[in-house]
Formats: sequence, C-alpha cells, structure tokens
Amino acid sequence: MPFLTDENRRWRDIARGVAEEVVRPVAAKYDQSQEYPWEVKEGIARSGLFGVWIPKEYGGHGGGTLDLCICVEELSRACGGVGVLYAVNSLGSTPIVIGGTEEQKKRYLPRIAAGEVLVAYSLSEKFAGSDAGSLRTPAVKDGDHWVIDGEKKWTTNGGAAHLYTVFASTDPASGSRGISGFLVEKSWPGFQIKKVEDKMGIRCVPVTEVNLDRVRVPESNLLGGITGRGFKHAMMTLDRARPGVAAQAVGLAQGALDLAVVYAKRREQFGVPIASHGMVQQMLADMSAKVSAARYLVYAAAKAIDSGLPSAGRLAAEAKLFATDAAMQVTTDAVQVFGGYGYMKDYPIEKYMRDAKITQIYEGTNQVQRLVIARALVKESGALAHLDKYIPHETQRGVNDLAAAGEGAAGAPRGANRAPETR
Ligand code: CAA
Repeated sequence: MPFLTDENRRWRDIARGVAEEVVRPVAAKYDQSQEYPWEVKEGIARSGLFGVWIPKEYGGHGGGTLDLCICVEELSRACGGVGVLYAVNSLGSTPIVIGGTEEQKKRYLPRIAAGEVLVAYSLSEKFAGSDAGSLRTPAVKDGDHWVIDGEKKWTTNGGAAHLYTVFASTDPASGSRGISGFLVEKSWPGFQIKKVEDKMGIRCVPVTEVNLDRVRVPESNLLGGITGRGFKHAMMTLDRARPGVAAQAVGLAQGALDLAVVYAKRREQFGVPIASHGMVQQMLADMSAKVSAARYLVYAAAKAIDSGLPSAGRLAAEAKLFATDAAMQVTTDAVQVFGGYGYMKDYPIEKYMRDAKITQIYEGTNQVQRLVIARALVKESGALAHLDKYIPHETQRGVNDLAAAGEGAAGAPRGANRAPETR
C-alpha cells in the first residue's frame, strides 16, 4: 500500500500479529459455540488496539479513522466476527468523542481505550431500522434523572458491553429533532438483555435486544448535556463508522482470497493445479481487483473523514456500498473455487461468506447508502452550476403558453415530463 504512513503500517503490523496469533486459531471454535471470545478481547486489549480511535488527551493513541480501518481489516481477515467485536466499540464510543461533555469524555474514554469498558450502540428498534428517525423509546425527565422505558433491537455487543449509547425520544412531537443520546450502564437497575439472536454469521459477537425497564439515567449521562441533538450525533457517528464496516468487508474478502489462492495452487484436477485453469485464474484475478479497488476506496473515505473533507459522508457511504458488495461477491467466488469442500463446515471458507452478508445490512443497508450518496450528490451539485448551459432547456409552443397563463392543469404535462421553464 504505497501511501500508508509509518504509523499506519505500525498499527497494521500489530493488528496482523493479533489476527494470526490470537484470532485465527480460535475463529472456528467461537463461530460454532456462538460465545463471546473473552481471550481474544484480552489479546486485543493487550496490544493497545482499543485506544486507536480515542484522542490522546483521553488516554488513546489519537490514530483516527484510517488507523481504525486498517486494524478492523486485519482482524477481519482472520475472523469477520472479531472484526466487528472490535469495531463496534468505536461505533458506541464515537458519540462521546464527537458530542460528549468534557466530564463524560474524561469519565469513560480512558477506560474504553484500555479495553476495560466495552461499548455498544443502541439506535435501532423493531419498527425503526432504516428509518432511524422514527424511533419511539421514550425518555422522560424526573428531577435530576431521565427515565427510559422501552426496547432496542440489533444491539451488537449487547450483554458483553458495559456501556450503551442509547438513543431515545425526549420530545416525540419534534420527530428526529426530539431524539437525545444517553450513556447507559449495564449494571443499572432495569437494564436487561432480552433476547440473544442466533445469527448466520459474525457468531462470536452477541447481537441482542435490550430491554430498558424504567431505567433511571442521571442528567450527567445525557450525551453532551443537551436534548434534541441525538439524531445528529447518531448520523455523524454512522458517517464515521461506515468505513469501519467497509474495512471489515475488505478484510473478509482478502481473507477469503488468500485461502482460495493457497487452495487453487494445491488442488489438482485434470493433471494440473486448478490455479492453471483459465476459468479459475479469471475468478482469482477478478476477486483480487475487487479487493484492491475496495481497499483504496475505504482508505480514501477514512482519510477524508480524518481530514474533515465535506464529501466525507458520501465517500463513507460509497466505500460501505462498494466494499461490502465486493466482499459478498469475492467470498461467494472463494467458496466456488473450493468446490465441494467450500460448502462444508470442515473448513473456514464458508464462514467468510456467512460473515460477509451482514456487512451489506448493518450500519445502514446498502439501499440506505445509495440514498445517502444520491442526496449528497444533489447537495454538492451547486459546484456544477456552470454545466447548466450544456443540458436541455427546451420549450414547447402551446404547453409553455398554457402554463404561463395558469391553465396548465388541463393540458400541460406533469411532474418529470413537464417542459423546463424558458430561461
Ligand atoms: N450528519 C449530520 N446531520 C445529519 C446527517 C448527517 N450525516 N444526516 C441527517 N442529518 C440531520 C439533517 O440535517 C436533519 O437535521 P434538521 O432536522 O435539523 O434539518 C435531520 O438529521 C434529519 O435528516 P433527514 O431528514 O435527512 O433524515 P431521514 O429521516 O430522511 O433519514 C437516513 C436519513 C440516512 C435514511 C437515516 O435515517 C439513516 O442513516 N438510516 C439508517 C440507520 C442505520 O444506519 N442504522 C444502523 C444502526 S447500527 C447497527 O446497524 C447495529 C449495530 O450495532 C452495528
């Protein structure tokens, strides 16, 4: 990777070491048992990786999004579940980094950086998935506390995490402007993990329903000390987190490609290794090109976030869309290269395909990414105003006359078919 800094490479080497020594040997075991791999979490904590995205003044390494993505990619190359087990702590704690009070940052971030406190992000509800702004869990003020009484869905790290960034409605009449963020600790009365999901992939990390039964949250745990900012904080967090999911996808695709190449070199059919067969070569070449293209886009999106570029949110969505679709294609093709062996649970290759699927779904489905990208394109299009003279501005005799006279209702074409106004 030509443009990585020495610091980027240092994190890559640390994460790669953890992936090969601590993660890969136990990936199948925890995939099967669907238990949280505490030994892996300890290995990650010992290596300092939990501090990568936390600013230095709060006990972290101040590494930024690119370093985080590189670490997620390396861990996911060995196990996609461990990739998200790690990355979700960034998703859960980024609201504190970008929107927390000074006191909240000092109280939580150093322990998150040390790997002592694990974090989860509770935004989704049963009836508020892609339409996150329609969430309904209420938080009602009661003296110097807020009382949250409701349920959240799809909380990754649920049960393992000590701290939950919960988004709830403090003013239902104001829609998404009435949503606020709360830092809720697992040990507080009324907090329960209701259902642990049985998943297709990423099986070592729990995804749960969270039940909040009149949980009393002190005012000091209202994110940023202000109501009504929760949806913005949630969206800004997702903008920063989506390259992490994309990096998980790149790691999964690279890991599957690695195994496919090793197998194709060794497996002989028709008297030669299948790597000599043109059709297998074509698959491997296409897989490699997709992985490289995805990786460069992810790194560019991460760099855009770290540099504060206005287009960073769009690039993050593009990286998530492209890399996760690529991962699904590459891991499926890797299974194909393995043939019958690929379909069996005896070998890790089928797990890459199962793990890849969720990357197209969580932290915004790829349909939502397209929505984000298209909206951003239209918003950014002000810079293209000089191209206006190169597009059609036709008028039609009769139609425009009628419209101008206010008689359009009877005869003028409507909506997209309406002739543009004369300039
Ligand atoms: N940054 C800052 N503010 C933003 C923003 C952004 N990226 N996107 C929207 N906003 C603001 C808008 O400016 C607007 O503010 P005002 O009210 O002040 O005008 C407000 O938020 C509402 O914006 P929209 O009308 O554009 O919002 P919308 O209701 O149309 O929704 C959406 C937009 C992009 C579809 C959004 O709902 C979305 O991202 N949905 C997907 C949610 C998601 O990713 N969920 C996954 C959760 S985590 C998970 O998967 C589980 C896990 O644990 C890993």
